[in-house]
Amino acid sequence: MSRTRFVCGNWKLHKTVAESLELATAIKNAVGPLRDVEVAIAPVFTALHAVAKRLEGSSLGVAGQDCFWEDQGAWTGEVSAKLLKDVGCKYVIIGHSERRQHFTETDHAVNLKTKAALRNGLLPIVCVGETEKERDAGETFGRIETQLEGGLRELSNDDMLKVTLAYEPVWAIGTGRTATPAQAEEVHAYIRSRLSDKFGSVAEKVRIQYGGSVKPDNAALLLGQTDIDGALVGGASLKAEDFLNIIKAR
Ligand code: PGA
Repeated sequence: MSRTRFVCGNWKLHKTVAESLELATAIKNAVGPLRDVEVAIAPVFTALHAVAKRLEGSSLGVAGQDCFWEDQGAWTGEVSAKLLKDVGCKYVIIGHSERRQHFTETDHAVNLKTKAALRNGLLPIVCVGETEKERDAGETFGRIETQLEGGLRELSNDDMLKVTLAYEPVWAIGTGRTATPAQAEEVHAYIRSRLSDKFGSVAEKVRIQYGGSVKPDNAALLLGQTDIDGALVGGASLKAEDFLNIIKAR
């Protein structure tokens, strides 16, 4: 089963509108026509509209970094999937470990947000991953299973075809400590086997990104693994050249 590789740059809380436009333009001008790979970038909320406009007609998609589960209403400070769609987003990252860790986001919230994204025509990138403590305690698979169970609850096979999963071991995010290709592949294969239990043959079509200190010099090996179908890139996506080299890694 061939799955189109999918690389997404997560800019986190970095860059003003002007800086975001500069980086997005640099990537757009250098990337050329994309074959065999889908690419998106996820700027801060305040830059989404400008960046989406700048990338219109290009092969680059735009992603929100989070969304709320209701479409509108008295929810001060929230941004809904409906509004992300309105400013030109195609994707939305959901359940990133930084949201789980600092904003106490639960698997239930991840599930509601994933459904909100799908309801509004956005393609969710649902993140899962264990902490260092959980890995050391031998709880990696159990943790991932709980996150998949809770986060993907009540999704249909058709829904699942629109979802990308991102395996991001928390201990590898922003630390420079990448999972080895074998460590990552072991968990990716586990995720696919759980998806196969839940969604049958659809599991073979679902893309599973790896995230956690992906850099130009480790991308080819990671992305060469059987069940690694792309990358969710933080730090290295803030430099056009590094991000482009990850996109092209073979
Ligand atoms: P990193 O972040 O590439 O800086 O480790 C990855 C992520 O958090 O998505």
